[in-house]
Amino acid sequence: MSKKINKNIKEVEAGTLATFKKHRPSEYFSHLVDDGQAFKEHNEKVGNLFRYGLNIPLDYFDGKEVIDLGSGTGENLISLATWGAKCTLVEMNEDALEVAKQVFKKYSPNFKDHKFIHSSLYDLDHEKFKNKFDISHSRGVFTHVADKARAFNHLASYVKPGGYVIYGDRNTAGGIQEMLQRLAIYKLGGDNDEKIIEISEALFSDDITRSQQSVPRTREAIIFDRWVIQQQDDPSVKDVLDMFCNEGLDYISSWPRLDFAGRGVSTYTDPKNDNSLKRGARLVENLWMMLNQGENENIDSYLGLNQEKYLDEIDNICKSLRNLQIGDDIDILDLSNSFDRLGSMSFIDKDKQTYLNERQNIFIKEVISFLNLIKLNRNPKEIRKEIDNYNILFKGYAGVRHLDYVAYKPN
Ligand SMILES: C[S@@+](CC[C@H](N)C(=O)[O-])C[C@H]1O[C@@H](n2cnc3c(N)ncnc32)[C@H](O)[C@@H]1O
Repeated sequence: MSKKINKNIKEVEAGTLATFKKHRPSEYFSHLVDDGQAFKEHNEKVGNLFRYGLNIPLDYFDGKEVIDLGSGTGENLISLATWGAKCTLVEMNEDALEVAKQVFKKYSPNFKDHKFIHSSLYDLDHEKFKNKFDISHSRGVFTHVADKARAFNHLASYVKPGGYVIYGDRNTAGGIQEMLQRLAIYKLGGDNDEKIIEISEALFSDDITRSQQSVPRTREAIIFDRWVIQQQDDPSVKDVLDMFCNEGLDYISSWPRLDFAGRGVSTYTDPKNDNSLKRGARLVENLWMMLNQGENENIDSYLGLNQEKYLDEIDNICKSLRNLQIGDDIDILDLSNSFDRLGSMSFIDKDKQTYLNERQNIFIKEVISFLNLIKLNRNPKEIRKEIDNYNILFKGYAGVRHLDYVAYKPN
C-alpha cells in the first residue's frame, strides 16, 4: 500500500518558497539579454491562448480590474496589462515580485495602474477583496499549495458577480509521466537539489530540451519546477469542475479543450451539463496521459488504424443519402455494403486493432518496463538505455501537463 506525506499549509508554503527562491519558475523572458524580442514572442503566445484557446476577446480586458494569486515574476500577467487590465499581483516570493515590478515598469502601458502585494494568498485581508474584481486569475499556483479548495474559495470570492475566474493548473492524468519521472529521480538517490539535477539530466535530458524549445527557461528552472518542487498536487478535470460548482461558478471554456468529441445533442442541449462533461473528459484525460506527438495523434486515436478508409466510407454514405428526394435511385446493396465495411473497421474494434488500443498497449508495456527497472534498482545509464528504446513514454510532449479554465460567476 502506498503512503503519502501530508503537510499543512505553512509547511508546504515554506517548502515551495525555499525551492522557488533558488529558481523562479516563471522567468519566460526577463532573464534573457534580448528580452524585448522574447517578450514579444511570449506576449503573442499568451494572446493566442486567451483569444483562440479560452475564447476571450482581448478587448474585454481593457479597463478591467484583475487580481492574480501567485503571480510569480508577472511574465504571464503582463499580457493582460498590455490589453488594458489594471492588475493586482499577489506573490509570496519577494524576489519574484521585484522582477514583476521591473517587467511591469518596462512593458505595461501605465505602471501606476498596478499594485504589487507581497503576501501568501492565504494571508490576505479577504474581506477587503471580496466581490471587488472583474477577473480573478491564478495559473500554475494551486498545485503547489496544501489546501486547494480554500485557495480556490478565496480566488472565487474576489470576483464580482458577472465576472470571470481564470484558473490554470496541471492535470492529474496528463501529468502522470512527470510523476513517473519523479519516482525514478527520487529512487535513484534524488534527496538533494544537486543529485536531482544530475539524475534528471541523466534520464530525461531530451524532455528538458523539448520544454526549452517551447519556452526558453533555463534547464535548472525547468528541473526545479518539475522535480525539485515537492508539493505538486495536480487536480483532475472533475476536481476542477467540482471546485467551480462548490463556489457557484459555471464552466465556460478551457485550453487544451476538455470537451470531448460529440458533446451536446442539440441547440438547446444544456451546455452546463457538468456530469456529461466530467465523464466525457475522462476519455480526453486518458489521451492526455500518453500524448507524445501532438494534436493529430489524439484525433487518430479515436478514428482507428483505418481512419482514411473509415472517413471515406462515411463520406460515401453521406453522399448517397444527402438531399434524398422522391424518385432518387439509390443502390441499396451498395449502401448496405458501405455500412458493412464501416462496421468492420469500427474504431470500437473487438480485435483491439484501433490506434488508441495499440497506443495504450505500448504505453502500458513501457510503463511496466520502466517500473520494473526502478524496482530492480538499475543504474541511470541502464534506465536511460531502456528509455531510449521507448516509443511513447517520456517521448515528445510526455503527456498534456497543464490546462487553463475559464468560469463565470452568475449575477
Ligand atoms: C509556477 S509559478 C507560476 C507563476 C505565474 N502565475 C505564472 O503563470 O507564470 C507559482 C508561483 O506561485 C507562488 N506561490 C505558491 N504558493 C503561494 C502562496 N501560498 N501564496 C502566494 N504565492 C504562492 C510561487 O512563489 C510561484 O511564484
